[in-house]
Amino acid sequence: MKILAIETSCDETSCAIVENGTHVISNVVSSSANLFSETGGVVPEVAARKQLEYILPVIDKALNNYSFADIDAIACTVGPGLIGSLFVGVNTAKTLSLIHKKPIIPVNHLIGHLYSCFIQNYLGETVQKSTPTFPLISLVISGGHTDLVYLPSSDLSSWQYLGGTKDDAVGEAFDKSARILGLSKYLGGVKLSKTAELAKVESPSELPRPLLDSPDYLFSFSGLKTAVLKAKNTYDKSTKVMKSDDFVSSLAKEFEEAVSDVLLAKTHKAVLEYSPKSILVSGGVSANTKIREVFKQNFRDTNLFFPPLSLTGDNAAMIGAAGYYLRDLATYDLSSIEPDPSLSFDNLY
Ligand code: KG4
Ligand code: ZN
Repeated sequence: MKILAIETSCDETSCAIVENGTHVISNVVSSSANLFSETGGVVPEVAARKQLEYILPVIDKALNNYSFADIDAIACTVGPGLIGSLFVGVNTAKTLSLIHKKPIIPVNHLIGHLYSCFIQNYLGETVQKSTPTFPLISLVISGGHTDLVYLPSSDLSSWQYLGGTKDDAVGEAFDKSARILGLSKYLGGVKLSKTAELAKVESPSELPRPLLDSPDYLFSFSGLKTAVLKAKNTYDKSTKVMKSDDFVSSLAKEFEEAVSDVLLAKTHKAVLEYSPKSILVSGGVSANTKIREVFKQNFRDTNLFFPPLSLTGDNAAMIGAAGYYLRDLATYDLSSIEPDPSLSFDNLY
């Protein structure tokens, strides 16, 4: 089954063709993120206008040598995300469905991240030999989400949302801390991570591990970001015995360790409680080297799955993969397909 997938939930415009949920034939991603480095965050109206401009060329490029005659269904992100951005993708999918007489499969963006771990072949290259087996525990860590879910089976009605963040998402904490440390104004997660790798000395400040031992699956990262700000202020007021580069890199390393400790502890708790056959870690932050390393060291005996690095951020390939597993939702009733920014793991559809 070949699915043409469309993703426009934030500042990416993406289209992909995915076969049977595991083989990515094409995946085109066009981002307007560079427009937001000055504002330090997405301007929704600007993002949606860019998506309107990019969507048809991106679909054309993803189709390449294929035509709609080769496509069985259209999968499209319906939420969560920015309403204007979602509208562009959903209305494009509806128009294509009407013209080419193909059903639409509505995809919750977070389910898309989760199923990015099922991709076995990316553009002709084998990225993993097997797919995850149920029951599984899924941790989605991105710019907007930090969610732990238990999935006894692929049946949506069986999924149990275990918990998420009370305030900032992990990626948001990475981005805000990178900004405080003067590393990047927007999407500084990667920069912070690269800076942490340069650390040569111990961090002068120990950062908190929020809710590490709480008896639930809640996360909280806003206090961690505030602790980074306090440490930076203390350093700025100090006599600066430590070189600025050393301070920043060592604090970046301490930040990554604090985040990894918390993510690992909560996932470990879920693994002990639910004994899953597979553990999935996906979303933009799952590209982080330190987090991957810590999870690999601690879950050697369990099947641990990450998406290929090129599919950690927002992309349509993961929507196409999810679309295959959600194919029972395929419909020709276009009035039933609407963008819904409020979707979450707690409110799947
Ligand atoms: O999944 P994603 O592309 O978008 C959302 O759905 O939110 O995630 C983007 C987030 C940003 O906060 C970005 O800074 C973070 O993922 N990120 C990273 C890394 N690569 C991307 N955070 C830490 N380390 C990385 N290597
Ligand atoms: Zn995302």
